Amino acid sequence: MHEIKLRDLLSKDKQLIEEAERVMSYAYNPYSNFFVGAALRTNDGQVFSSANVENSAYGSTICAERGAIMHANAHGQRLYEKLALIGKGKDFESEDVITPCGSCRQMLYEFSSLNDKPLEIIMCNTRIDKIKIATIDELLSMAFGPKELGFDIEKLRNP
Ligand code: THU
Repeated sequence: MHEIKLRDLLSKDKQLIEEAERVMSYAYNPYSNFFVGAALRTNDGQVFSSANVENSAYGSTICAERGAIMHANAHGQRLYEKLALIGKGKDFESEDVITPCGSCRQMLYEFSSLNDKPLEIIMCNTRIDKIKIATIDELLSMAFGPKELGFDIEKLRNP
């Protein structure tokens, strides 16, 4: 994990953060009032994003990160190089960055395992004056994935 300043990011990574910020405003969050936006960039440079979508049966809530994966997969895209993540409460902004929940780490690990390089996750606070970058392998060490089930990864890459 390392910290980086916005000005030192590549412009395509700044754009990824901007997209995460844009979709964050679409959070369907009447139960938590917490806003999360996630934007995924595929190996070939396409961007797919999502906000969190909650449900009256609370456990049916879908996080922004998993929404972004569904969005990308619906376009036949399973190979991702970076994810930008941003989040805040309705009435408060944290000084520190938001990090993916455990379920999202597991889901992100699944798709990272299909790729040649571990997925990088750019985590931001909403002032965007704190940015941390970590690989999914750092966020979820000794993870369980499709390789453990003996899958030929090549076959999982394309729909
Ligand atoms: N949330 C996300 O979207 N991503 C995470 O990684 C953490 C939590 C959402 C789920 C719920 O709508 C709200 O944040 C509070 O948990």
